[in-house]
Amino acid sequence: MTNTKSLVLGIGSQELTKKFYDNWSNDYDRTLADWNYKIPLKCANLLKIKLKCEPRRVLDLACGTGLFGNELKKIYNQSNLYGSDISNASLLIAKQKKIYDNLKCSSFEKIVKYNFKFDLISLIGAMTYVNNFNKLFDNVYLNLKLKGYFIFSHRIDLWKQNNFDKVLLHNENKFKVKYKSRPILYLPSNSDFQKKIKVRIILLQKY
Ligand SMILES: C[S@@+](CC[C@H](N)C(=O)[O-])C[C@H]1O[C@@H](n2cnc3c(N)ncnc32)[C@H](O)[C@@H]1O
Repeated sequence: MTNTKSLVLGIGSQELTKKFYDNWSNDYDRTLADWNYKIPLKCANLLKIKLKCEPRRVLDLACGTGLFGNELKKIYNQSNLYGSDISNASLLIAKQKKIYDNLKCSSFEKIVKYNFKFDLISLIGAMTYVNNFNKLFDNVYLNLKLKGYFIFSHRIDLWKQNNFDKVLLHNENKFKVKYKSRPILYLPSNSDFQKKIKVRIILLQKY
């Protein structure tokens, strides 16, 4: 049984977070479907509207079991999809879905340099776990093509707590805000989240 209180309040260190998602991996997709988690679908639909063409290479940071990758592939079936996460067990589930061309066990705060740049980088449902926003944004900037896109979701309650407007302001010479959604329900059928916790979807473009 997943401790959903800790999802609201935070899990703790990276090691504890990894263990938490490793232990949850087998039931994650089923639980999230029960909680009516539609953010991956909404993000994919937004990209369909906002992007002029199919992204050739996509990096899905904190890809987990591949819920966002799965939605993205339904729209962009020719894209090469790369994924990374700290939870090995979640990556194994993602691998079984055969939607990712490459999967790496790595933290999004660690600079990982690929041999090419990506057209699109995503971080869906995982901004909660970022300890150092500058490290994440530097990582994304390094791996993104000029005019490439960065899409992510972030909780409204944590947005205020993290002073996230300041984070975006700090990065305004690197990324232009292309879209900022209204607050959307995050996990509508989970009693701890329901109408209390909402998220925004943000689309940035690299200058
Ligand atoms: C709520 S899940 C979201 C997974 C997927 N993006 C989705 O929408 O279903 C959060 C994911 O973030 C991953 N995660 C947490 N901290 C991380 C870190 N520092 N680096 C990479 N992944 C991390 C977890 O292992 C987990 O798979």
